Amino acid sequence: MNMELTEQDFHNISKFIYDKCGIVIEKDKTYLIQQRLAPVAQSQGCDNFSQFHFKLANSYTPNLHDAIIAAITTNETSFFRDNHPFEIFKSHLLPQLGKAVEERKNRVPERKGAKARIWCAASSTGQEPYCLAMMIYEYIQNFMNKGLEASDFSIVATDISSRVLAQAITGEFSDYEVKRGLQSQYMQKFFTKEGDKWVIDQNIRDLVEFRRLNLMEPFTNLGGFDSIFCRNVLIYFDDQSKRKIFDQFHHMLANDGFLVLGSTESIYGITDKFESERHNNTIVYKKK
Ligand SMILES: C[S@@+](CC[C@H](N)C(=O)[O-])C[C@H]1O[C@@H](n2cnc3c(N)ncnc32)[C@H](O)[C@@H]1O
Repeated sequence: MNMELTEQDFHNISKFIYDKCGIVIEKDKTYLIQQRLAPVAQSQGCDNFSQFHFKLANSYTPNLHDAIIAAITTNETSFFRDNHPFEIFKSHLLPQLGKAVEERKNRVPERKGAKARIWCAASSTGQEPYCLAMMIYEYIQNFMNKGLEASDFSIVATDISSRVLAQAITGEFSDYEVKRGLQSQYMQKFFTKEGDKWVIDQNIRDLVEFRRLNLMEPFTNLGGFDSIFCRNVLIYFDDQSKRKIFDQFHHMLANDGFLVLGSTESIYGITDKFESERHNNTIVYKKK
């Protein structure tokens, strides 16, 4: 059934989505609401979008929230997406983190827990944090003699969508997913084929902790980080939301920490609290 979307409905529903998750739906994207939310509205027994908006405004449940987020968010991701940030992670950022870990271990040998913390904000179905985890694991194996251990590192991976988090936590990927970007060296080393799924090793999964987090809500209580990857999500937000997010990143990042954004995203015109360092095609932001 095709549900009509009046201008008023568009205004009300796009504002509701903006308020809940920061995603800006421009007027030329009305189809996003019409096509993706009509099935959700119908599943709630609504015959039109104004009934649906009334339902949202008056009886918004966590289940309805999940259904809307699942319908409206774009979860596109792949292993080693854009590749160059991962190359820089391997050649520059990871050795820096390794050095910081060694120093911290020497300075306070009795300190428990991870010595380097990485946050992968908006991690979708998990490919991005698992790529970082595989690289960390490989780095540790190569430098056994330096006394680095997997437990010296931790990755917190967050997303607003319960659906993608549930998939990420399984650590299982389809043939199609592994064919998109996963180099054979990593596939052979860290994955096992079980039925029609590729399952990532427990050692790698142990490095990643998945949590639900909405970047539109205050999040500094997640703690301090040496590195923040926030890629391919800020494009959906307006400048005001981005500024709030950058302010919190600034607060959470260690003095020598670094921030990596998606290749089409930048801080320019939004905040001057970071300075940029270019490594080939990748820009890494550091605190001023
Ligand atoms: C296009 S994916 C990017 C995934 C991965 N970072 C990458 O670059 O491949 C964007 C992700 O942002 C999440 N997202 C959208 N709005 C969000 C919000 N307000 N807070 C946290 N995550 C959000 C979506 O659920 C989606 O999984």
